[in-house]
Amino acid sequence: MSKSKRVGVLTGGGDAPGLNPAIKGLVYRGSELGLEVIGLFDGWRSLLNPRPGVLELDRAAVRRWDRDGGTNLGSSRTNPFRQINEKGEHQDRSDEVLTNIEQLGLDAVVACGGEDTLGVAAKLSEKGVKVVGVPKTIDKDLAGTDYTLGFDTAMRNITEIIEHSRTPAGSHGWVQIIEVMGRHAGHLALWSGVAGQAHIVLIPEHPFRYQRVFQILHDRIGPPGLIPGRAERPRYAVIVVAEGARAEDGETITIDDRHDAFGHARLGGVGDVLAQRIASETPYESRAVMLGHPQRGGPPSAIDRIMGLLFGARAAEAVTANEFGKMVSARGVAPACELSLVDISQVSGKIQTVDVERYYDTNRYHLKNIGM
Ligand code: F6P
Repeated sequence: MSKSKRVGVLTGGGDAPGLNPAIKGLVYRGSELGLEVIGLFDGWRSLLNPRPGVLELDRAAVRRWDRDGGTNLGSSRTNPFRQINEKGEHQDRSDEVLTNIEQLGLDAVVACGGEDTLGVAAKLSEKGVKVVGVPKTIDKDLAGTDYTLGFDTAMRNITEIIEHSRTPAGSHGWVQIIEVMGRHAGHLALWSGVAGQAHIVLIPEHPFRYQRVFQILHDRIGPPGLIPGRAERPRYAVIVVAEGARAEDGETITIDDRHDAFGHARLGGVGDVLAQRIASETPYESRAVMLGHPQRGGPPSAIDRIMGLLFGARAAEAVTANEFGKMVSARGVAPACELSLVDISQVSGKIQTVDVERYYDTNRYHLKNIGM
């Protein structure tokens, strides 16, 4: 009988609900297939600087993980190909990852992550590491799959906030702006804006015009100071703006000028700028809120639990069948979804953004053809 395989699992990049169900799926299905699963802490950092001892993940250890948001293994944005040494220079330390994989006795690594974490996986795969990727990001911008873990829960969270923002905005007669994550993709803004029935949705894929935003507000709200309750039209509006959205005559706004190990700036601030422009150039008061990290928080939604369990189980099967250099991919979302394996090289260096032609009304700044 062949020896059982020892698999390390790690989670990298921004945390997302659905990761823990994926680990449970990997361990549970893996236990049927004879895999031994080891938890690796804080993404690729664990394979650069392994901690002493190993975390054995058996069925008992992960039994309750399906209900947990975030990642119980911890996460980081570590790029072994671009580390900074004591002299402040960039250094490729990826060979150390190979050495540590050997020292830990791992036959394979299951990497759960987005473009960056799986981009590292793809490069390591070229160097001979046996990897299987599991797609995760609330941004849903990964190439090669229709679903990425965390998206549905983040949509649920944002939809709730849109809902909760209606009463203060209505009571005070404000334009409430809700800035959401998504980096350079507008999936999260667009679909949560539809679910929460925001009145305008601004996405990175289509730069907006301030004058057009003001006009849509005028058309909805009319003159300020309408008497509450007796007004024939609403006194407020909700705008969902993606952090990566920008005006036609503006730049993408960043929180500061720092970049992470993958060269990404932290986006944020467009909502405030928009609120100031509305307050100074229209008769309406405006408030902006940047939702930040809590939009990635909380227990996974039903979809993220199901997709996580399915993705993890499929990864266990891929390892067993020696199908490496692959990412688990979904066509459709549970329950009507089909899983397959795609070449992991196709996820690096590309992102999947909103198909504007198909989905976005560039005049109404909303989903096409829903009468908004
Ligand atoms: O990729 C997930 C994401 O939440 C993006 O939407 C956001 O721009 C980024 O991570 C935030 O980065 P960090 O979690 O490092 O602050």
